[in-house]
Amino acid sequence: MHVCILRIFATLSALLLAASAFARVAEADADFATVQRVLQHPRCANCHIPGDAPLQFDDSRPHAQHVRRGDDGKGAPGLPCSTCHGQANLPASYGAHVPPGAPNWHLPPAAHRMVFIDAPAAQLCRTLKDSAQNGGKDLAALLEHVRSDALVLWGWNPGQGRAPVPVPHADFVDAFRRWTDAGAPCPG
Ligand code: HEC
Ligand code: HEC
Repeated sequence: MHVCILRIFATLSALLLAASAFARVAEADADFATVQRVLQHPRCANCHIPGDAPLQFDDSRPHAQHVRRGDDGKGAPGLPCSTCHGQANLPASYGAHVPPGAPNWHLPPAAHRMVFIDAPAAQLCRTLKDSAQNGGKDLAALLEHVRSDALVLWGWNPGQGRAPVPVPHADFVDAFRRWTDAGAPCPG
């Protein structure tokens, strides 16, 4: 009788453990889905690209004026991003279609492009965590980057005529924090 009850307890607690591990994985995957939704929004993905030109607009078409990445991401010699992109957005009185601005406006360098656009979830997740791609950042430094980097914050203040990232910044940072606290597992 006692042995039997003990067995039932053991089985039940094993089931509960498995269920809570399963719930944790599902939670981390849901948080990563929020992270992915932000990283792949055009306000972020237009700079996080495999090619040699930044993209523009919600349909992510190639940048006008034959703008090029350059090795350091700051533009081709003779046409740096800073020719047109300043330290901040221009006042609304300038209207739409003026160059947006934020400190140090540039693309990731050609040697590590941090490609977000169109990447399947598992690949996006590996790229994000790859210290050879992300400038040697560990999870804490990545979290700090998405919390406070000026180019990231621009996504929620993109200037006249551009839609901001629809997920609130605080929700994005919370999802990112929970995902890193869970050990930053990659989906699948
Ligand atoms: C104007 C181009 C541009 C935009 C827009 C942009 N990024 Fe980046 N991002 C960069 C550059 C450049 C780097 C490489 C680090 C550096 O040089 O500052 C980078 C790096 C990163 C990194 C990795 C950390 C690292 O240092 O490599 C993350 C994460 C990131 N960006 C997230 C975002 C998110 C989220 C958005 C949108 C809300 C966004 N970025 C929008 C240019 C951009
Ligand atoms: C000759 C001027 C000029 C240069 C040089 C230039 N840009 Fe632009 N850029 C613009 C203008 C103008 C817009 C706004 C277009 C609009 O909204 O109609 C723009 C928009 C963008 C956007 C659009 C953001 C979005 O989500 O729609 C990105 C990203 C961008 N530029 C990146 C860069 C990068 C990176 C460089 C350097 C490698 C660069 N640009 C160099 C003029 C320039």
